[in-house]
Order: sequence, then structure tokens, then C-alpha cells
Amino acid sequence: MRNVVVVGAGGMGRAWMDAIARRADTRVSAVVDVDPAAARGAVEQRGWDIPTMQTVDEALALVEADLLLNVTVPEAHLAVSSAALRAGVPVLSEKPVTPTVRDALQLLGLSKATGVLLATSQSRRYSSGVRLYRQAVTDLGKIGQLDAQFFQNPRFGGFREEMDHPLLVDMAIHTFDQARYILDADPVSVYCDEFNPPWSWYRGAAAAQAIFRFADGTRFSYSGSWCADGLTTSWNATWRASAQSGATRWDGERGVVVERADGDVRELEASDGDEGLDAALAEFVAALDGGPHPSGEISRNVWSLAMVEAAIESSRSQAPVLFADVFSAALASALEVADADVAAALQSSRDLLKMR
Ligand SMILES: NC(=O)c1ccc[n+]([C@@H]2O[C@H](COP(=O)([O-])OP(=O)(O)OC[C@H]3O[C@@H](n4cnc5c(N)ncnc54)[C@H](O)[C@@H]3O)[C@@H](O)[C@H]2O)c1
Repeated sequence: MRNVVVVGAGGMGRAWMDAIARRADTRVSAVVDVDPAAARGAVEQRGWDIPTMQTVDEALALVEADLLLNVTVPEAHLAVSSAALRAGVPVLSEKPVTPTVRDALQLLGLSKATGVLLATSQSRRYSSGVRLYRQAVTDLGKIGQLDAQFFQNPRFGGFREEMDHPLLVDMAIHTFDQARYILDADPVSVYCDEFNPPWSWYRGAAAAQAIFRFADGTRFSYSGSWCADGLTTSWNATWRASAQSGATRWDGERGVVVERADGDVRELEASDGDEGLDAALAEFVAALDGGPHPSGEISRNVWSLAMVEAAIESSRSQAPVLFADVFSAALASALEVADADVAAALQSSRDLLKMR
């Protein structure tokens, strides 16, 4: 039985508490929230007799913790994950791992320096649909183009309607992460143009077009909007890949269609399996049991965050942006504030970021 400290008792924190309770080999040992009523409310709602605290340090001093789930707001992710890693407790964090690549590199360095696992749960890479699509893409040989279209029209109200980059920061990170998962590769450059359509109900840019280039020449194009009434797509986007041996489409749900160069057409149906939070937790627990690193391990996941940051920078400068430059700038900035052990670990991680 593994004891889990859940930090952040908002909507997503409660969903994680339920995912932990669904497993026979994990249980929540404490709930931490700066808002004591939120933590207490979540525990009482579930009828649990476990302590609640306001800080991670307090919780880790008082209860058993085999892992910590960081489900706080993104601005608190760095402090909460750092406290756990320094205490030797593995962390599974909600996305985005931190708001900036610079902060993510600090966590990468700390994870390497302490030897304690930190991974991000990007829930949309854990679906049977995307797994099936990845296999269909792989089976077609060399990929030339991968395209994703994301068109939705949510009326959230609240903070998203006030953000500068609501689509890229809060949503596109999922689609970008899925592209990395489908292609099993990381990009080298991006050109992006984000904008806000005249009818948008968001203050910041709610739409974007972006083209990512990969080292082998593959292009991933993204076209998305969060203020698109009519003909909305799945929240997983709709996808098309053009490859050496044919093409394949995914509707973002369960249906994948493959047409091979010889005209053979197949419709594939995703099978049932662990999805979302359950799958992310299963992968993390398996890693603690000696299995492979989770696919959202920090040195891998930082690439999805970098796709967002690079896209925003490209749109601002109206020029293509190289990922090597994004990581160089973030590393220089992270090194300015890093402790000696973290700085040394970061310096020796340069190859993970494909830096010169
Ligand atoms: N994967 C997904 O599809 C998905 C969906 C929604 C949210 N999220 C992510 O989950 C995280 C939480 O989102 P939410 O919707 O639950 O937010 P929320 O605002 O409902 O809850 C966040 C909670 O964290 C608490 N908190 C803030 N700073 C803290 C700190 N330093 N220590 C302890 N507690 C602190 C707040 O008091 C609040 O109760 C975010 O990173 C968000 O991006 C992911």
C-alpha cells in the first residue's frame, strides 16, 4: 500500500483523490491546501479520517508519503514540487509542470540532483484513441505531415477569459504533447501566429496557427480556436497524417481510419483500457515499482512546455524560433538562481535538451 499526499484540493485535486482511492495499492494519507476549508471539505465529502494541512513541509513531517500529487495552481507548482523532491518524495504533477521552461529546468535539475522521480500527468496522452492512432501512424512508415485541428467554443468565464494566451497556454499544450507522443520525437523549430478573432469573448489570443519542424523533416501543423461556434471538433482535436505508405485520420474519439497506398482502407476501433488520471497513476506507480520512467518524466515533458513557450515567442517576434535557443535562454536564467547541486545536474543534462 502506497501513501499519497495530495496537495491542492480544488476540482482536479478531488478527481485525483478519487483516482487514488480506486486503486487497491494506493491511499491518500493527507490533503494539503493553503485554503484549510478546501482541504477539510474534500476529506469530509469522502468520509475519510485523515489529516489536512496547509503546507507540504508540515504534511511530510507528520504522515507517511511514498509519493506526492501536486494539483495546485500552476504558479505554486515549483515551490510544492521542490519541497517534495528535497524531502526525497517522488512527485506526480498536474500540467503544466511549471508556468515557464526556466522553472521546469529548475525542477529537472533538482530531480536529477536528488535522484527523485518527477513526472507530469498530461492526461490527454493517456487515451485508447491516441494509443491506437500512434500505432496506425507508426505502421505507415516515414511521416511527412501531421495535422491537428482543434475548434471549440467553451464559455468558461473566469481566469481563462482574462489570460494573454488562453488557447496556447491552457489547452494547446495537450495537443502539442499528443503530437510529440504520436511522432515519438521532439521538434527543432516552430513558426506560430496567434490572434484573437473579432467576435472572441476572450481578452487574450484565443486562436492560433503553428507549424513545427522535426529533426527528420516531419512537419506538424496546428490550427486551433477556443471561440469557434459551429462544426466543433473533439477536445482531442481531429488529426490527419500523411506518410510514406498512406494516410491515417483520427476523429479524436475512438475511430481511426487508415488508407494505404494500394487503396486498402481500414477502420480501426480503440479497445477499452485505463484512461486519463487512472492510466497516468498506473504508469507512475509502475515506475516506482522498478518499471520504465513515466512518459511525462520531467526531462521529456519539458519539451511540451517548450512547444508552448516557443510558439508564443514566435508569434511575438513574427519569426521562426529554434528550440535550442529557447532552452539556452531558459538554462542561463535557471542557472542564475540554482543551488550548486542543481546547477551541476543541469549542466550535465544539456544533451537531454539537445543543446550544444
Ligand atoms: N489535465 C487536465 O485536463 C486538467 C484539467 C483541469 C485542471 N488541470 C490542472 O490541475 C491543476 C489544478 O487545477 P484546478 O482546476 O483543480 O484548480 P483549483 O483552483 O480548483 O484548485 C487549486 C487548489 O490549489 C490550492 N493551492 C494553491 N496554492 C497552493 C499551495 N502553495 N499549496 C497548497 N495548495 C495550494 C488552492 O487553494 C486550490 O484549492 C492546474 O495545474 C491545472 O492546470 C488539469
